[in-house]
This record gives sequence, structure tokens and C-alpha cells, in this order.
Amino acid sequence: MRISNKNLLSTAKGPSPKCNIVTMKCSLRVFILFLVLLVAFLTSLFFTYTLTGVTNMAYLETQGVEDAHRVKLVPSYLGMQKLSKDLVGQKTCACDRCVGDPGVSQWFDEHFDQDILPLWTKANMKLDPDVYNWWVMLQPQFKPHNLKDVLSKLFLIVPGENPYSSWNRSRCRRCAVVGNSGNLHQSHYGADINSHDFIMRMNQAPTIGFETDVGSRTTHHFMYPESAKNLPANISFVLVPFKTLDLLWITSALSMGEIRFTYAPVKQFLRVDKDKVQIYNPAFFKYIHDNWTEHHGRYPSTGMLVLFFALHICDEVNVYGFGADSRGNWHHYWENNRYAGEFRKTGVHDADFEAKLINSLAEAGKIRVFRGN
Ligand SMILES: *[C@@H]1O[C@H](CO)[C@@H](O)[C@H](O)[C@H]1NC(C)=O
Ligand SMILES: *[C@@H]1O[C@H](CO)[C@@H](O)[C@H](O)[C@H]1NC(C)=O
Ligand SMILES: *[C@@H]1O[C@H](CO)[C@@H](O)[C@H](O)[C@H]1NC(C)=O
Repeated sequence: MRISNKNLLSTAKGPSPKCNIVTMKCSLRVFILFLVLLVAFLTSLFFTYTLTGVTNMAYLETQGVEDAHRVKLVPSYLGMQKLSKDLVGQKTCACDRCVGDPGVSQWFDEHFDQDILPLWTKANMKLDPDVYNWWVMLQPQFKPHNLKDVLSKLFLIVPGENPYSSWNRSRCRRCAVVGNSGNLHQSHYGADINSHDFIMRMNQAPTIGFETDVGSRTTHHFMYPESAKNLPANISFVLVPFKTLDLLWITSALSMGEIRFTYAPVKQFLRVDKDKVQIYNPAFFKYIHDNWTEHHGRYPSTGMLVLFFALHICDEVNVYGFGADSRGNWHHYWENNRYAGEFRKTGVHDADFEAKLINSLAEAGKIRVFRGN
């Protein structure tokens, strides 16, 4: 809009021997130019208005008109203003296809919320009451702790900062999310996986001895206290906390080692790169539960947590080692017993819904899924 206004002005002011707008002595050419600019101006006005209307309607439909959420209207609205500008052929990254490009999938755009940070940092320590109440019920603890005190102590030991910048048109950050499925067995994906900028693994995920199929590089390893293991230097340990005790544990395991038990034995000391420890944000956890797995299962599986983490910090996301193998078995790639994973079908997660969600993301062109064997 502003551009067309400026053009109008310069047409009016410009030293043109053929035209004087004030005295209306214009040549036909200038008159047509003026008409074209007027039409462009009105079109852009109409377009902005329509988009804003649609956005607000979608917002009201999904939200009801709850007071508690009204604050959100402002960031969403601003986000949409940016989106309408982006729609005019702008890309959010330098890859062929970018996760962040708007207008590719309406379903994705409606569920995706860029305002929620995947990491819990010094800047967003305080949780919304609804997030807090949901999170503390995941693994209820009897002993109350002051979350702010606990986090403040933790952030004296680990950075508590967000190292990820937002989208950047000259960047193409390719990420591999590597699950632990037996379908990786004899997949020969190792070299492919190694070629990514970020390689994210979770829980046990051994690589030694499995390099040909699962690759050897790791940049992010997601674990909770009961699944934690030591990591080589230079890998980000991303702690997925399910309770306040988990934050006390990581603080302890990186310093005095006073905690050895949560609901199961945990490592007293953890050898990981302290400067690269990151804490998964409970608000982001709940956002996945609300917006993506839509309350199927008690809470999303670790695989989902890692996948959406990647969708929020990467430009291209490739998924390996998710789901059953081609015979429908749910074992891990390092297990010989194909039936070892039977319990997963009856767990707290809804494996069928999560599998459908992964398919939808692939159909929307936001991820590519490598299904292995
Ligand atoms: C954008 O990405 C390029 C390439 O990775 C980098 O050199 C540049 O500093 C980034 N710009 C910003 C504003 O982050
Ligand atoms: C550590 O990781 C960075 C990028 O994350 C890489 O450039 C560097 O080579 C790595 N260093 C070692 C010793 O592996
Ligand atoms: C997505 O999450 C945000 C914040 O949690 C919420 O305001 C929004 O309504 C959600 N959208 C959908 C479609 O679930």
C-alpha cells in the first residue's frame, strides 16, 4: 500500500512536461498509469481485509471466545500480517521446500504456532497456569517445589538460553529425526542421515555397531532422567522433564550427585556437555498435545516431541526409524527379538493417531518419511 502511495506522489510531483495533475492536463498514458495504480491499491486493500477476516474467523472457531486466550489475539494477528506479506512468493529458507513457507498447507498453517518456544529458558521460566496444571499431573509428585527456585539453580549450571534464531532466507538447515524402530535394520540410511546439519536421536539410540543403518553423527539427544546416558562432547542433551524432580535431578547429576532415584534408579552423575544442555519446554509439550495429537493418548510420545521440535527449528525435516517395520513389528533396531516392542501398543500414547499425523505431515509436504525395512 505504502509503495503505491509513494508512486502516486512521485507521479504528481515529478517534473513531467506532459502532465500536470493539478490542472488536469494529462496525456492518455499517464492517465492509464494512474488508473492501474489505483486498481493495484484497491486490490491490495481488499486482500489485506479478506485475509484478516478469515484469520479472525478461524481464530474464533477454534478458540470459542474464551477470555483466558484473548491475549493471544495480538501475536496471532501480527503473525498473520507477516503471513499475508509472505504469501507474495517469499520463501522462509534457502532449501527447495521450507517447513515455514506459508500457504502450502492450510491444515498445517492453522495448527502451527511459531510463538511457542521449544526450549525452556531464563526468558520463559514462568508457565501459564493451564500449562503448569497439565504438566504437574503427568507424573504427580508429593513433594511440592518452587519451580522458579529450581529453574534458577539449574540455569546457573546450564545456559538456559535459546540458541535458535528464527527463519532466515539465506539458510537451509536440514534435520534428520531418527527414531529407534527396527525398520532401520538393514536400511543403509547411515550416509544419508550423516549428511544432515542436525541429527536428533532419543533415549537409548546406540550408533556404534549400527553406523551403516543409523549413521554415526548426533547433534541432539533427547532423554528423560530414567533413560539418560552419558554423551560424547559436542552433543546437545535435551532433557524432556515430566516433573519438577527431573529438573532437580539434572542439576544434581551435573554437580553434587545427591539424587539417585525418581520413580526408578537414575544416574547419579551424568557426563554430557554442560554448555549444550537444553530443557524441553512444557508449554511446547502441551501445544503438541493440544494442537497436533489432539488429546489422543495421555501425552505425546518422545518421537512426537522430537519431530515437532525439529519442525520448529529446522527448514527441512527428514524422518527415519519411526513406526513398525514392514511386518508390523515394533522392536528397536538394536534388538534381535522382533516381538520385543509389543507393550508399545498398549502404552500411554496413541500410536495409530501419531502414525496418521506423520502421514498428514508428509502429505502436507512438511516432512519426508523414510520407512526402511
Ligand atoms: C542467515 O543465514 C546465513 C547463512 O546461514 C548467515 O550467514 C546469516 O548470518 C543469517 N542471518 C541472520 C540475520 O541470522
Ligand atoms: C562440534 O559441533 C560443531 C557444530 O555443531 C562442529 O562445527 C564442530 O566440528 C564439532 N566439534 C567436534 C570436536 O566434533
Ligand atoms: C494451537 O495452539 C495455540 C496455543 O497453544 C492455540 O491458541 C491455538 O488455538 C491452537 N490451534 C489449534 C488449531 O489447535
